[in-house]
Amino acid sequence: MKIVVAGTGYVGLVTGACLSEVGHNVTCVDIDENKVEKMKKGISPIYEPGLDDLLKRNHDEGRLDFTTDYKNAYKDADLVFIGVGTPEREDGSANLDYVFKVCEQIAKNVENDCLVVVKSTVPIGTNDRVEAFLRENAKNDINIEVASNPEFLAQGTAVVDTLHAKRIVIGVESKRSEEILREVYERYNQPIVVTNRRSAEMIKYASNDFLALKISFMNEIANFCEMVGADVEDVAKGMSFDPRIGDKFLKAGIGYGGSCFPKDTKALHWLANDNGYELKTIKATIEVNQNQKYKLFRAAKQRFGSLKGLKVAVLGLTFKPGTDDLREAPSIPNVRRLLDEGAEIVAYDPVGIDNFKRIYSNEIEYVNDPKEALKGADLTLIFTEWNEIKSLDLGVYEELMNSAVIFDGRNCYEVNDVEERKVEYHSVGRKAVLNLQNDVKNEVAVTLF
Ligand code: UGA
Repeated sequence: MKIVVAGTGYVGLVTGACLSEVGHNVTCVDIDENKVEKMKKGISPIYEPGLDDLLKRNHDEGRLDFTTDYKNAYKDADLVFIGVGTPEREDGSANLDYVFKVCEQIAKNVENDCLVVVKSTVPIGTNDRVEAFLRENAKNDINIEVASNPEFLAQGTAVVDTLHAKRIVIGVESKRSEEILREVYERYNQPIVVTNRRSAEMIKYASNDFLALKISFMNEIANFCEMVGADVEDVAKGMSFDPRIGDKFLKAGIGYGGSCFPKDTKALHWLANDNGYELKTIKATIEVNQNQKYKLFRAAKQRFGSLKGLKVAVLGLTFKPGTDDLREAPSIPNVRRLLDEGAEIVAYDPVGIDNFKRIYSNEIEYVNDPKEALKGADLTLIFTEWNEIKSLDLGVYEELMNSAVIFDGRNCYEVNDVEERKVEYHSVGRKAVLNLQNDVKNEVAVTLF
């Protein structure tokens, strides 16, 4: 079976590499010649643990290839996985231009009967449109079918998430498509859920939007915890023992980012509206997240009044640890606001600096050691819970900062540990530690956030 994967972003590249890892022959197509040459050498264009090894080994062993020559690749393909991006349009809807561009190329070149599998996250009904488009535009007299096979990998753990997935969802309209995909995934030895195409498309959105909802819910509870003296970490722990709630995605912070949750919540909300229905829970999820991401900036502003001329240490730039991806990272709009206020910023991130420089080149200073950022700082804002940040001894803040005022958006430290230190510490959904302000030691933060 010849498998071709269109697109070498997170979804496409990891799909291709993992399919070759279990023994399939896979060709990945991308338009970027440079990228293709690098991937052939085992250099992944994205930072993803374990991916370089997979690329190199499977390429060297002849199961995985990369090309820009899509005509040849699609010509004798039995299966084409579409893993290209579906970015957000201005109005929140999903932009399907890349998907249909690939479909055009497939239709023009494929010469065999072929199953086209849509892995990209697409609005409900898109697979039907893709099939109609391919059949109308196919140059050759062949049978093209389309199946939906959404992807559930998370960045930073993409390889493990794929090779050890909790489920594989297959949305098909024919027995033949189901059989082909069962054969492809047989070697993964994972539970397979077979539905029709529209249900599979909905499973993807409903899964992501439910996780986003869980996060926004916990963030609201966290904000309220601050007002009434409860501790959101304890609350989450207490909730998590109920298997109906579970212990994942209850971590309060400064909101969800990344290339998926922000876009997929807006896309489903838009789609429902377009169908004359308001998804109220998703609307609230989006609003809460929008507000939550400025929590640290608001708190700092309230604490200092003016931030003009203050030296701000920014620790963590990426939208979460384990990735160099900055899409929808809360650090980006917060840095903008800090700069507009006249603050001087020194930023640290273990892998995100190069990408951040593309957004803010000369406006801020970058350092490769978090301690360098803390030297002489008037306040610290923590945006990402990298181990390199969490493992920083609290004494270092005390020692190096001009005034050790910390706003921790990811609850990197235990409040009990912080209480031992001469710092001022504001986190999410927990009491503030005000040890710099001698007479108001350990007060509950009622007003600050
Ligand atoms: C997410 C889903 O987790 C994957 O299952 C899905 O396949 C993927 O989107 C996608 O649609 O492609 P990802 O965006 O890589 O994966 O990252 P997550 O680990 O889900 O984190 C998303 C955001 O939520 C991050 O900003 C993270 O900091 C935040 N988060 C996560 C919280 O604030 N609290 C939590 O408890 C968990």
